[in-house]
Amino acid sequence: MFITFEGMDGSGKSTQIRLLAEKLTALGREPLTIREPGGTPLSEEIRQVLLAHRKGSVSLTAEVLLFFAARAQLVDEVILPRLEKGDIVIADRFVESSFAYQGYGKGMEMGFLKTLARQVTRNLVPDVTFYLDINLEGSLSRQDSRGTRDRLESMDPETWNRIRDGYHDLIQAHPERWVVINAGDTVGHIHHQIWTELEHRLSV
Ligand code: TMP
Repeated sequence: MFITFEGMDGSGKSTQIRLLAEKLTALGREPLTIREPGGTPLSEEIRQVLLAHRKGSVSLTAEVLLFFAARAQLVDEVILPRLEKGDIVIADRFVESSFAYQGYGKGMEMGFLKTLARQVTRNLVPDVTFYLDINLEGSLSRQDSRGTRDRLESMDPETWNRIRDGYHDLIQAHPERWVVINAGDTVGHIHHQIWTELEHRLSV
């Protein structure tokens, strides 16, 4: 089973992924958790390249291709082999992050992103995607409380708004796969909602 988490920066994905992985591990399921960009040595190197602040501007096409290069390695080296073995894979972000951030947020042509996504993922679609919904103020204040922003987090409020609206468009296009959760809820209650949703899909 392939489970993905999406949401704006600071929406609490990492905490929820950790809690979910702990729960599954306690039940003997040994899930694999990965983050994007990252999850393989090559993909983690690309992550450093993407997040680093630079003197000059970064071409949006270069940014897109770097995200997809990291993802291609992760899909081929880790995600597909583990899914073929019947494992549970939990991913912190997947192609919808590129659609929301580079597509809706920064204006990359959606047709190009979708073609790349199909090629790179070999048409892999998550079984379920949890969207932790946080408003712009909440996202920015959680980013600030974590310290300095990386290059990708350093965007103007209009871009952040387009990213959030973009996620809502993506959800409306495939509501059957997305589970929307209010990220302002308590950590425990969010975990409970995620678990309730998954329990009937897994024979645990
Ligand atoms: P993270 O902070 O959730 O680990 O994600 C790293 C940053 O990369 C975050 O600001 C979102 C951004 N990102 C994109 O812009 N496009 C993508 O395709 C992915 C996977 C992440």
